[in-house]
Amino acid sequence: MTAVTAAAAAAGANHDASPAVIDRTGALSILARCDELAAYSTLPNGLIRRVYLTDEHRAVNALAAGWMREAGMTTWQDPAGNQCGRLEGRTPGLPALLLGSHLDTVPSAGRYDGILGVLTAIAVVDRLNTLGIDLPFALEVVAFGDEEGTRFGRALLGSRALAGTFDPAWLDLTDDDGITLRDAYSAFGLDPDALAPATDSALFRGAAARRPEDLVGYLEAHIEQGPYLEEAGQPLGIVSSIAGARRFAITVTGVAGHSGTPFDRRHDALAGAAEIVTLIERTARDAGLIATVGHLEVFPNAVNVIPGRVDLSLDLRAASDSDRDRVWTEIDAAMTALCSARGLTVSVTQTHNAPAVACAPHLRAAVAAGIRAATASPAEPLLLLSRAGHDGMAVADVTDIAMLFIRCRGGVSHHPDEHVTPADVAVATDAFEAAILSLVTAAS
Ligand code: GLV
Ligand code: MN
Ligand code: MN
Repeated sequence: MTAVTAAAAAAGANHDASPAVIDRTGALSILARCDELAAYSTLPNGLIRRVYLTDEHRAVNALAAGWMREAGMTTWQDPAGNQCGRLEGRTPGLPALLLGSHLDTVPSAGRYDGILGVLTAIAVVDRLNTLGIDLPFALEVVAFGDEEGTRFGRALLGSRALAGTFDPAWLDLTDDDGITLRDAYSAFGLDPDALAPATDSALFRGAAARRPEDLVGYLEAHIEQGPYLEEAGQPLGIVSSIAGARRFAITVTGVAGHSGTPFDRRHDALAGAAEIVTLIERTARDAGLIATVGHLEVFPNAVNVIPGRVDLSLDLRAASDSDRDRVWTEIDAAMTALCSARGLTVSVTQTHNAPAVACAPHLRAAVAAGIRAATASPAEPLLLLSRAGHDGMAVADVTDIAMLFIRCRGGVSHHPDEHVTPADVAVATDAFEAAILSLVTAAS
């Protein structure tokens, strides 16, 4: 394994990839590529927002494809707009070990969530190709086009298509401009009807779907998006499982009216929604799981009008699906009672439901071996529950998954301040490579 260079470490937060710095580990070029991709955004002033089936998506796919080809892979864009690259194993057509993550972002994103995992995977395939390793399976990198669900409000569209669990009803989802997912696929040059799984056949599961027998497993490197590695002073960790998540669109309806209306005649939707927000926080906190209301829209949103309607979102996550579902039932009942006491009505639509996913023990062991090799430490690496969602949640429907977590500063993510160090990226790249090599050894 290559050691972290003093030059890379000295480059620190500036990610200085100038030619004067010798980038022996490749970490600086990975970070320089993260910087390059960050420029493809629909937001001004250096803020990042890059969403599914847009010009920015097309542009980053083209860049990633070029880097994949430089790393020795053949490339294609799959029918869901995921950018794929493949390095054949010792004979052509062997089942593939998938490596990947996503290139889309939330609004005002950082530059590493998802992106770092794709670029680390490409860098590792480049190394293995250069070394001429005799591979008992093919390696494929998948840069998923939609993990965050920012544009259509439905997360994991890219990885669901790959896993064969894409629901044709999603083609009618619309973005903020009223464009349907169906039309967005067509405008991107993709055939929406090829994506939808044929319900009458267990064999054909949509054109982007992979068959389990063609896959060896899926490995994803990702920033931790939590504080535990930093607290423990460790650069890398292993994911035990990914928390199950449910999301809901909630509408509270009251009666809009003049702000001179006495309190006893009001049905204020915002006052009810405010109580719902604190009810959700209290209930989730008491139950030891997490819930977020991240979106709130008030109608008609005027200073002298009682709010008649409020739309809000709920994102609920837990290590156990049954805990999550029990807490949702509790919240739902309390919300209905609270609204009824205020003369309000409440309606709920579920927009996302992803069960908790456990990482496969044999792949977890490979990631652990990779971390031990790269850090030259015999200690068992930190095992972490991922409260963030990942493409692996969807991919787990078609093959075994495991994840390598990389320390990020302050645990900050989904924010422009997201930050990783070149030294941590260097050791993560070594660990990811070593994890794959341990699977190569096991399969040879
Ligand atoms: C994606 O990052 C999520 O956890 O929602
Ligand atoms: Mn994210
Ligand atoms: Mn992510």
